[in-house]
Amino acid sequence: MFNLRKLALLGLLPLALAGCRQDMHDQPRFKPLAQSDFYADLRSARTPVEGTVARGQLHEDTYFYSGKIGSSAGDFMPFPVTEDVLARGRERFNIYCAPCHSRVGDGNGFIPSRGFPRKPPSYHSERLRRAPLGYFFDVITNGFGIMPDYASQIPPRDRWCIIAYIRALQLSQGATMADVPSGQKVPSEAPQFEEPGSGATLPVVAPKSANPQPEEPK
Ligand code: HEC
Repeated sequence: MFNLRKLALLGLLPLALAGCRQDMHDQPRFKPLAQSDFYADLRSARTPVEGTVARGQLHEDTYFYSGKIGSSAGDFMPFPVTEDVLARGRERFNIYCAPCHSRVGDGNGFIPSRGFPRKPPSYHSERLRRAPLGYFFDVITNGFGIMPDYASQIPPRDRWCIIAYIRALQLSQGATMADVPSGQKVPSEAPQFEEPGSGATLPVVAPKSANPQPEEPK
């Protein structure tokens, strides 16, 4: 008999403990976006006080966050281009852009070769060579035609790093001997390609011309 009573009491224990929590459940509060008669506009959710800036959202440097001066695209980097900036740009470019634009930026990426509706333009056209840096920032931030935007994937600083690297790609694909600083020698002829690589396949290098380059004199 005693044991049974003890058991019954134990059975009630959870109920009694649950009772302790009712205060927390019943405290006065609003469900999200519920109506309230307390405020004149009947909204329980209040708008932030005018001029409130959330932490990390003070975008004072408008050029850094838009690439624009007034309404036109600017053509300078908002911070100095160092080797680290270019390395970061190459890494991010190869992750986010190369799948479509290819690692050299000629538009022969892997995705367009597998049915993406439009092939991206080459970065090495006269038009995009002349396009200001801020234009590239705008394309990454807002997308272009059927290209989606990358605003949520790529933070602003990385966008600029990518743009610096695109400029390096443009230079590398369009450089002439006049661009080589005096006193420096280009070590070898650039290889000629029979087939460009697609990202999935390596480029096919054309055989060297019949006249091999003479060895450099010692
Ligand atoms: C999913 C494939 C894809 C990816 C990834 C992609 N692009 Fe594009 N991009 C395109 C296509 C396609 C176009 C041409 C769009 C059109 O004409 O409708 C384009 C166009 C462009 C243009 C040229 C705009 C013009 O004026 O012609 C730039 C610059 C560009 N992309 C930069 C980038 C950069 C930088 C990245 C990486 C952050 C990137 N794209 C990632 C597909 C892609």
